[in-house]
Amino acid sequence: MKNKILQLSVVLAFALFTSCKSDGQNINSDSAQSVEYQGKEISTAHDAEIDKLISQMTLEEKIGMLHGTTMFSNGGVPRLGIPELKMADGPLGVREEISRDNWAPAGLTNDFATYYPAGGALSATWNPEMSHTFGNSLGEELRARDKDMLLSPAINMVRTPLGGRTYEYMSEDPFLNKKIAVPLIVGLQEKDVMACVKHFAANNQETNRDFVDVQIDERTLREIYLPAFEASVKEAKAYSIMGAYNKFRGEYLCENDYMLNKILRDEWGFKGIVVSDWAAVHSTAKSLKSGLDIEMGTPKPFNEFFLADKLIAAVKAGEVSEDEINLHVKRILRTLFQVKAMGGGERTKGSIATEAHYQDAYKIASEAIVLLKNENNALPLKLDGVKSIAVIGNNATKVNALRGFGAGVKTKREITPLDGLKNRLPASVKINYAEGYLERYDVKNKGNIGDITINGPVTIDQLDPAKLQEAIEAAKNSDVAIVFAGSNRDYETEASDRRDLHLPFGQEELIKKVLAVNPKTIVVMIAGAPFDINEVSQKTSALVWSWFNGSEGGNALADVLLGKVNPSGKLPWTMPKAITDSPAHATNSFPGTKTVEYKEGILIGYRWFDTKKVAPLYPFGYGLSYTTFDFSDAKADKASYANNETISVSVTVKNTGKVAGKEVVQLYASKSDSKIVRAAQELKGFQKVSVEAGKSATVTIKVPVKELAYYNVATKKWTVEPGKYTLNVGNSSRDIKSKIDVTIK
Ligand code: BGC
Repeated sequence: MKNKILQLSVVLAFALFTSCKSDGQNINSDSAQSVEYQGKEISTAHDAEIDKLISQMTLEEKIGMLHGTTMFSNGGVPRLGIPELKMADGPLGVREEISRDNWAPAGLTNDFATYYPAGGALSATWNPEMSHTFGNSLGEELRARDKDMLLSPAINMVRTPLGGRTYEYMSEDPFLNKKIAVPLIVGLQEKDVMACVKHFAANNQETNRDFVDVQIDERTLREIYLPAFEASVKEAKAYSIMGAYNKFRGEYLCENDYMLNKILRDEWGFKGIVVSDWAAVHSTAKSLKSGLDIEMGTPKPFNEFFLADKLIAAVKAGEVSEDEINLHVKRILRTLFQVKAMGGGERTKGSIATEAHYQDAYKIASEAIVLLKNENNALPLKLDGVKSIAVIGNNATKVNALRGFGAGVKTKREITPLDGLKNRLPASVKINYAEGYLERYDVKNKGNIGDITINGPVTIDQLDPAKLQEAIEAAKNSDVAIVFAGSNRDYETEASDRRDLHLPFGQEELIKKVLAVNPKTIVVMIAGAPFDINEVSQKTSALVWSWFNGSEGGNALADVLLGKVNPSGKLPWTMPKAITDSPAHATNSFPGTKTVEYKEGILIGYRWFDTKKVAPLYPFGYGLSYTTFDFSDAKADKASYANNETISVSVTVKNTGKVAGKEVVQLYASKSDSKIVRAAQELKGFQKVSVEAGKSATVTIKVPVKELAYYNVATKKWTVEPGKYTLNVGNSSRDIKSKIDVTIK
């Protein structure tokens, strides 16, 4: 482990040294992202000891290890010193302790944790270093809670903006997805815990997730839906994978031989364990033989699980051999040794909810916030002469750590936007707060998988006249108004997809009315997924996008609004003008009924918008700064490359404004004369760089030629088509500053 860290720091130091040396200018540590994060393979060094243990176990003890015996652990074998494998959700931080045999919180007092920014936020940093920090920090929290496995990261592709878990997931782009996922897993596993990468795979909607049969053509599967999982296994060496709820090509994913045995293990060489999603198992012998190792689930007597008494009976009936059982037990034991839950060795002790971890959450949050519009430099707020600010909107005070269906975090610190402004504004500025709009849910559905009423005595979009009036008065009587709009984790939630993109609770009307009385109104969206903000975006001069942004989200947001932090987040997905512009909807292939066919094929996200020439509201990769950047002198190191070479593209980024800032240089490849169907362009490299005002930095992006490959279904091979490729270098998918032609031999 120490070697690994040493190795990483050497590469990091080298990267820093070379990047600083190459231009003699001002690049800080942010330029070190070209570091490749490589994980550590599960060791087989303890195999003899493991075989001996297995030889001493009864069939019942072995099978006890293959299923949940509590809500979040399998069975251990205390007499042989085999501990339970203890798991915890999840993407936002270590979940509070759940009772051993039901979903009720255990009621502990020592399980308060740091609430980290959600997956979409992490991706919006476009900074793998943030992702590594995220993994390390969370790994320490997990150890402080004495857990072995984090049920995270969640890396399913954002196929539709309506997906209930869009906020948890990373992106609509497989390259960004893997570049964020890999360092997170490596960072986590450096702390002697396992990542459980979920949900494998093609789990891209909540509607009918328990049974929907997903049909994806092979090329699309390989190029879009699997790359981040593949990199998690091959590069990050994830110790565990979670099988999804849904079916893929007719088979449930926890009993899908093609996905679990053929692809995951045979092709990718996965050595770890496959854990089912909670209650996602439908068979006994079939699941086990198809590659599942541990069945987890929701309350029913644990011995009634498919891999419990039924499995004992199957072995006794000769349907499953004891050798097969031993294979799965051995895999589990290897992972326990790997994270030092067994075999001695000094294991990370960890720490939880520390100031250092809150600061990790702050750093990530502050790099995640995206500035969408800033006419006449409305932001950062200039406080000269400002005596009062109206803070309007339920989202100014809404907390999200523990809301909605699914895993949240019990935390002592969640700085709301209002708290953040109170913390950061001078006492001389008066805050006039008004809630503005009310969340309205169908009472009978409240708390029930986010299903909200559309019809009823009041619609969800109805504003409360008194609340509206209060907001108008606050806006009128203040020098500046900020409306905190968007959604929350009751509205965007696991287990249900949104019905449409509209801003709920009458927020659009509220924003218009506030703008009418105070033109100096800034709109801040707090949400994890795209919304219809066409009109809002036209009417307001400044628009900021924040996320379910963790314990320090409100402080980070206030620092962006007040200019202490220069925003550098970029959208990890496309903000469409209308839902019908999005590929899954334009092809009328969401949500399906029993089956859903991904008719858009490889043209997910911006690939669709760019290829079909549909204008988005805000494109993938987009985000402004308080400064401006000029790109010049973009060039490749050579004109032509062989298959095994790496293209090195350099570009000079000059900060032409008055403040220091961070820019994300993005490289998209296109092949206009391709013999196969291709997207207009695909992201193949990016790097975030920090540049002082007036200074320049040279950014180098390395693209291994193999990244240009497409999946050839006929030969079942990744194939690089020879010929001319154009490399588009820009700061969003729609703002390309230079095009460089290269030839692949
Ligand atoms: C979710 C998983 C989660 C599990 C345990 C399931 O409903 O899909 O992401 O890890 O519950 O809480």
